[in-house]
Amino acid sequence: MSTRFAQRMSRVTASPTLKVTAEADRLRRQGVDVVDLGAGEPDFPTPEHVKMAAHAALDANFTKYTPSAGVLELREAVGQRYRIDYGAPIKPEEVIITAGGKQALYNTAMVLFEQGDEVITHGPYWPTICDQIKLADATPVVVQTHREEGFVIKAGAIIAAITPRTKAIIVNSPCNPTGALIAEPEMAAIADAAAARGIWVIADLTYERLIYDPVPHNLVSILFDRMRDRTVICSAASKAYAMTGWRCGWAIGPKDVIEQCNVIQGHSTSNINSITQKAGIAALTGPQEGVTTMLNEYRKRRDAVHEWLTADPRFQCVKPGGAFYLFPYVADLLSPAGIKSTGELAEAMLKEVAVAITPGEGFDAPGFFRLSYATSIERLKEGVSRIQSFVQTLEKSGRIGAVATNR
Ligand SMILES: Cc1ncc(COP(=O)(O)O)c(C=O)c1O
Repeated sequence: MSTRFAQRMSRVTASPTLKVTAEADRLRRQGVDVVDLGAGEPDFPTPEHVKMAAHAALDANFTKYTPSAGVLELREAVGQRYRIDYGAPIKPEEVIITAGGKQALYNTAMVLFEQGDEVITHGPYWPTICDQIKLADATPVVVQTHREEGFVIKAGAIIAAITPRTKAIIVNSPCNPTGALIAEPEMAAIADAAAARGIWVIADLTYERLIYDPVPHNLVSILFDRMRDRTVICSAASKAYAMTGWRCGWAIGPKDVIEQCNVIQGHSTSNINSITQKAGIAALTGPQEGVTTMLNEYRKRRDAVHEWLTADPRFQCVKPGGAFYLFPYVADLLSPAGIKSTGELAEAMLKEVAVAITPGEGFDAPGFFRLSYATSIERLKEGVSRIQSFVQTLEKSGRIGAVATNR
């Protein structure tokens, strides 16, 4: 007899990005030389001084429960980081430490959203954003951005989607999967419109330290200046400090919202790992040069992979301003008689040439796929070369549509 799961489970699906990683892992364990361009995490090791802080925490037996919201020193460290980076004064009681940016967003969704609420976000989107809205019984309203416009997030389109039921607007900048940044004037226009209507703005800044060009991106000040009482900032040490496995994130918001987040967290996971908290303090307050070194390396890879990939006109691809993903458009290749979706393309690619990519369907973007360049330049070169020869083979065998290669 099949199990009757709670009704909420019918509204959500397993994370497609984690699915690709699991399958790539399985093949690797069988000895297959997989080029993994699916992973959403830095390939760099965690900086040495951060690891040392964790060793010291263990040696000092810092292995017990901590306050559920995180130790004061770490909450202060988050405040100090944002003061330095954005000029934003933040008190420790306005910060909760969470198991990654994911839990920061989850707590916020649970605290603020309920049945009947609409929550606006922009697509293509990181699927967790919409699934968390649904888990909180609210309805996601997705405003699409377009590759022809570089996936820019336009305030006008977001504001036009506001209804009397709109509870919040979630902005993810830099965006996973498109790499697009929201421009400051667009953020300001959204904030003005939201503030005037009592709507919350939640900024997912998980990739905030991975911005390649010197563009102004002080979303924190823009939001705090206009609507501090209805702003929640969610972010993490995960991507900036190559700390995805440590699970260290934070939400910054009004004291009462953070208190409520702590009620949810206190009844679910409690504090994040105590050792991670000491590592997080070292990451946020220690030397920041490592972040720049990694950023410079990602930039080189972005430029190289973009050039290699788009040398073949089958792959149309916006050059992203942030994060570490390319999001090529290959809809013209798909064929009703052969490979019909990027899901099927990703499956065949993994099986036949051992390259892991993430299909666009998971990001509500059929016809696209996501390629992570958070891996070495040699592996990227190998991956792109396998992808391109695979597509040529598919084309010759008629499994995909032929694209004029001289346009
Ligand atoms: C847009 C976005 N937000 C939040 C997160 C959460 O990251 P973590 O929970 O690993 O800190 C991710 C992770 O991939 C992401 O892509």
